[in-house]
Amino acid sequence: MSETSSKAVPNTAAHRGSRQTSACRVALVGFGTVGRAVAKILCESGERSLRLTHICNRNVERKRQPWVPSDVVWTDDVDLVLGSDVEIVVELIGGLNPAEKIVRDALRAGKSVVTANKQLIAHHGPDLLQLAASQGCQLEFGASVAGGVPVLPALRTGLSGDRLHGIAGILNGTCNYILSRIETARIPFSEALEEAQARGYAEADASEDLDGGDARAKLAILALSGLHARVVPESVRARSIRPIDAVDFDYAAELGCTIRQISRADLKQHTLFADVGPCLVPTDSPFGGVQRNLNLVLTSGQYGGDMAFLGAGAGGDPTAVAVVSDLIYVAGRLSSGSGDQEVASCFRTPSISSDFETPWYLRFFVRDQPGIVARLAEILARHRLNIDAVLQKPGFDKASLPFVITLEPCHNSQLHPAIEEMSGLDFSIRPSLCLPILR
Ligand SMILES: NC(=O)c1ccc[n+]([C@@H]2O[C@H](COP(=O)([O-])OP(=O)(O)OC[C@H]3O[C@@H](n4cnc5c(N)ncnc54)[C@H](OP(=O)(O)O)[C@@H]3O)[C@@H](O)[C@H]2O)c1
Repeated sequence: MSETSSKAVPNTAAHRGSRQTSACRVALVGFGTVGRAVAKILCESGERSLRLTHICNRNVERKRQPWVPSDVVWTDDVDLVLGSDVEIVVELIGGLNPAEKIVRDALRAGKSVVTANKQLIAHHGPDLLQLAASQGCQLEFGASVAGGVPVLPALRTGLSGDRLHGIAGILNGTCNYILSRIETARIPFSEALEEAQARGYAEADASEDLDGGDARAKLAILALSGLHARVVPESVRARSIRPIDAVDFDYAAELGCTIRQISRADLKQHTLFADVGPCLVPTDSPFGGVQRNLNLVLTSGQYGGDMAFLGAGAGGDPTAVAVVSDLIYVAGRLSSGSGDQEVASCFRTPSISSDFETPWYLRFFVRDQPGIVARLAEILARHRLNIDAVLQKPGFDKASLPFVITLEPCHNSQLHPAIEEMSGLDFSIRPSLCLPILR
């Protein structure tokens, strides 16, 4: 562990301009994709309220950049940062360990914190906000949901006058890229995933994205900030996008819909209805128009109605803009002497349910034989489920025939036992796919 001085570099006019005694001293912990982009903005923009003083990363020597002013301290020792006179620590290493300890130590040392770390806030947000408040510090995490889309700052300020009861979003760019590629090119899921990985939109192990873990952490943060509800991310049902087939887009199109991974939370009295997973959405709806790796968040308020926020949900530069915007906000509050964290007077702890009432899309792959639809209809009728339509496109192999039944609105809990029963039928060659239809 060592503090190192950097080589002489040109000191830009912009940087010199920020050298005011009143500028807030900022340390970056984590100099990867986002950390580097944040440093670039701080060094280039001439933002007078902020002054970058430290960059901390493990094995920091290999991270040095010639465009960073020579008086910035490069270090791999986070304790050196915490023991210094920095006022804001920017945590950009990600994950829970050691990020959680670094953030707690920073707040205990009286430093405000800005982070983009969704796992940290989703799991420890309420505690950390209380800690920040008790220390007279700020904690901001605007980049932790939807990257560069300023939805969390909007919840903090522009929408705080409303009483929100619902939040829904396309929160995972990887899933949206894959689904919109299957939609436009009618390629198999595996090919769309490989393409996303080749373009850097999906990690080698993309399970967190595909199976909904990433999106439900973000939904938990939106619920915390917008609905003042404590939500353990793992308590939210997450359904994978892996079973989605190109043929599902053909059938969805017949219904005027497409398929997107939707994260939704609706607060009804003491219950938060929450779910993450693929859904049918109308092609001409806001969700239906979201292509590639963009994010969209819709909020529903008692007084203001519906609002939409669309933009780049990831990427170094858009995410860095959100981080720097948080820094400017925190610096402003510190300089005006109103530096204490505002914490909702109390967070609700609602019970969590995924038992939404919606119409449903059921897709079956069967070995064709007489009486299949009659058999399925009999099971559905016994469970008091009403069929809306039966769709069967011609031209498929009879040994692997896809067809669809749509159901009139019913609760998930009502549908589930019927699906269990159907899974044992001898003509079924794949587990059936059940997708909510959001109208
Ligand atoms: N990238 C995006 O588009 C995006 C969007 C929204 C939010 N975020 C969030 O932003 C945060 C940073 O993401 P990123 O994409 O910038 O990640 P990244 O590229 O992996 O950068 C993380 C940096 O932290 C360093 N690091 C990791 N563990 C460390 C430790 N124990 N001590 C010191 N340094 C350590 C890494 O060093 P090495 O070089 O040695 O690995 C790396 O330089 C994460 O919380 C992420 O979820 C990212």
